[in-house]
Amino acid sequence: MSKPLVGIVMGSNRDWEVMQHAARSLADFGVPHEARVLSAHRSPAALLEWVDALAGQGAKCFIAGAGGAAHLAGVVAARTTLPVLAVPIPSKHLQGLDSLLSMVQMPKGIPVATFAIGDAGAANAGLFAVAMLALEDAGLAKKLTDFRRKQADSVRAAKLPDLK
Ligand code: RP5
Repeated sequence: MSKPLVGIVMGSNRDWEVMQHAARSLADFGVPHEARVLSAHRSPAALLEWVDALAGQGAKCFIAGAGGAAHLAGVVAARTTLPVLAVPIPSKHLQGLDSLLSMVQMPKGIPVATFAIGDAGAANAGLFAVAMLALEDAGLAKKLTDFRRKQADSVRAAKLPDLK
């Protein structure tokens, strides 16, 4: 098995429904990754240990998904200088607006790149990780160009129904 280039972490196993879309984007491009459930507040020591281990193995970035007071991405970013991509998970009472604001409002000095709430944000975080890796990988860059072309083709081919 290749060493993971991307670490995906989420605060709860319930976050997987959303975060699987990040894993799917990476898998579709053949990018080796590792996904774990680790909480910034429930298992902080295990989280930091995992970040150190993955960075030590050569990972190039992390994707962190969390809901509520979503400090997970910030804690990962506090531990490593590797880029951290943050995915706000829809929450029960505030539908993920809390997650989004807590991620996007990181104080100056420890940045995280925050994506859209939910499935689209998770998928795009995966695609963004692919784009970063493609800077140093011509094969991956070509796959990304092909992916974009297919998307454009399907928009061009889209048909609207006739008026009733
Ligand atoms: C966060 O709190 C997790 O990221 C999750 O989105 C949210 C709720 O977690 P559970 O209480 O459902 O495990 O830590």
